Amino acid sequence: MRTFQQIAPLRTYLRGIRQEGKTIGFVPTMGALHAGHMSLVKRAAQDCDLVVVSIFVNPTQFGPTEDFTSYPRVLQQDLQVASNSGVDAVYTPAVEDIYPDGFQTTVTPGALAQRLEGQHRPGHFAGVCTVVAKLLNIVQPDRAFFGQKDFQQARIIEQMVHDLNFPYEVVVAPTVRADDGLALSSRNAYLSQEERLAATALNEALNEAARAHLAGEKSPQALSEIVRERCLKEPLVSLEYCEIANNISLEPIEDVDSCNAVILVAARVGKTRLIDNIVLPTRLS
Ligand code: PAJ
Repeated sequence: MRTFQQIAPLRTYLRGIRQEGKTIGFVPTMGALHAGHMSLVKRAAQDCDLVVVSIFVNPTQFGPTEDFTSYPRVLQQDLQVASNSGVDAVYTPAVEDIYPDGFQTTVTPGALAQRLEGQHRPGHFAGVCTVVAKLLNIVQPDRAFFGQKDFQQARIIEQMVHDLNFPYEVVVAPTVRADDGLALSSRNAYLSQEERLAATALNEALNEAARAHLAGEKSPQALSEIVRERCLKEPLVSLEYCEIANNISLEPIEDVDSCNAVILVAARVGKTRLIDNIVLPTRLS
């Protein structure tokens, strides 16, 4: 496995790969790699000849009171995990490589970024779009892979790639969960044992609502009430939002069967902020 910190040698290497006629799959990450990240690597390896992973804890997507400094950084372990998983190249830029002195141009996403996470984390998606735009243009992959776990992020990136005519295909892959259903996340490492147990309420709440939907419940209010009540049973879990939204526009919906709907939640478990979602299957009747 090759590792690169500088842009120029990475580009030279990738140019050689392209000249051999090989396709490049790209998985951008902030490291602390887990099976969720690795599922994207596997998918990239199935779809492309070569897999590039970036590991960069992007300062511009963290708010001033958020966990940028304490975010888990375990580079040596990540390199081992990546190498064992058949990653071909890892790109680990320093903050100055991505945001050198004089840097001043950013990407501002539109309406999709104003809602949900955008309301609770002002500026977050501008930071995500800017770094993802830069990483995509540095690597210039055939396809880039993102997780459904961060549903709103994946939608915003799809929209950015479309709106700005980036010649890269965006692939969104399913959420990987622990055996008890908790969506894998680098932030799960912050949870105490008690909080880790309580955190399963999030996925259980989403599944309860999805079952009610399957049994005929169409009202978004009723579905979000089910989520709320399940979370209330868990004193360590404090729900920040639960929204039933159109899975393309992310606008709230009136009738769940009028379009493809997704239930999106964010909650604090102790001090840790977690998000999750479930896409509701469309019913034909
Ligand atoms: P990070 O949280 O490290 O996630 C990197 C990628 O892994 C994202 O596309 C995310 O959706 C995906 N992912 C995380 N947990 C997952 C899970 N349980 N199942 C499936 N996929 C999962 O998201 C970011 O980093 C950053 O915002 C980034 C896009 C790298 C820009 O800085």
